[in-house]
Amino acid sequence: MRLADKTAIITGGANGIGKETALLFAKNGAKLIIADFDEHSGTSTVEEVRALGAQAHFVKADVSAADDVNQLVTRTVEAFGRVDILVNNAGITRDGWLVKMEQAQWERVIGINLTGVFLCTQAVAGVMIAQGEGVILNAASVVALYGNVGQTNYAATKAGVIGMTKTWAKELGPKGVRVNAVAPGFVATAMTEKVPEKVLQLMKEQTPLRRLGQPRDIANAYLFLASDEASFINGAVLSVDGGLSF
Ligand code: NAI
Repeated sequence: MRLADKTAIITGGANGIGKETALLFAKNGAKLIIADFDEHSGTSTVEEVRALGAQAHFVKADVSAADDVNQLVTRTVEAFGRVDILVNNAGITRDGWLVKMEQAQWERVIGINLTGVFLCTQAVAGVMIAQGEGVILNAASVVALYGNVGQTNYAATKAGVIGMTKTWAKELGPKGVRVNAVAPGFVATAMTEKVPEKVLQLMKEQTPLRRLGQPRDIANAYLFLASDEASFINGAVLSVDGGLSF
């Protein structure tokens, strides 16, 4: 019970890494708000979380829309009275080579992966500062550090997330709020189902541990960073990638 009575918002918590993180946090005593624009999966994830005996609610929200995000934080405070942990996990890819990338493709990824993280953090920051404590965890990526063919937009957002993480660690640390990022390698979720099999095979070969990550590998990192065991860790980017380097 490493998160006993802690309240956590997990964006993109309906599926993939976010869902696995929700289930693991619930097993560790957290109360959960699953925020996602996928209402169907979000509702069923909430049912799975409740089946573990944890309190949980689904809030339909698009993290790139300021009104949705403000409503998300208001509803969390109404339900649980506080926000201890925010996991900025929602993210998308819209891959394409630089020379073919359309501006709409660029802007949609920036809107969700970068502006979404900014809006959600800004909306909870006031609550956490008033509490005098809180933890913010951001989804970065190995591609922020090394780049990746076809991911100009995605790599830009994930590198931006690292910059924001380090900035907020400095701004919010003195208020008792820790901010860290996790940089996963390639993880077996719906997101990587779109990646051609031969590229995934290459990624496995380039990974010293010779496998893709599983959602639980990333959820374990979030659990550690959210817990009091990480109480002196702030501004860190934790690579969870099996040693992958490009
Ligand atoms: P996924 O596609 O399985 O799940 C993403 C979830 O985010 C979905 O439930 C989706 O509905 C939700 N979502 C997307 N846009 C949203 C929006 N505007 N508002 C609210 N919810 C939204 O993805 P996965 O693989 O679980 O990825 C989670 C995070 O981890 C993402 O930020 C991703 O960039 C990052 N990541 C994933 C890696 C991978 O290999 N799967 C590697 C490195 C980072």
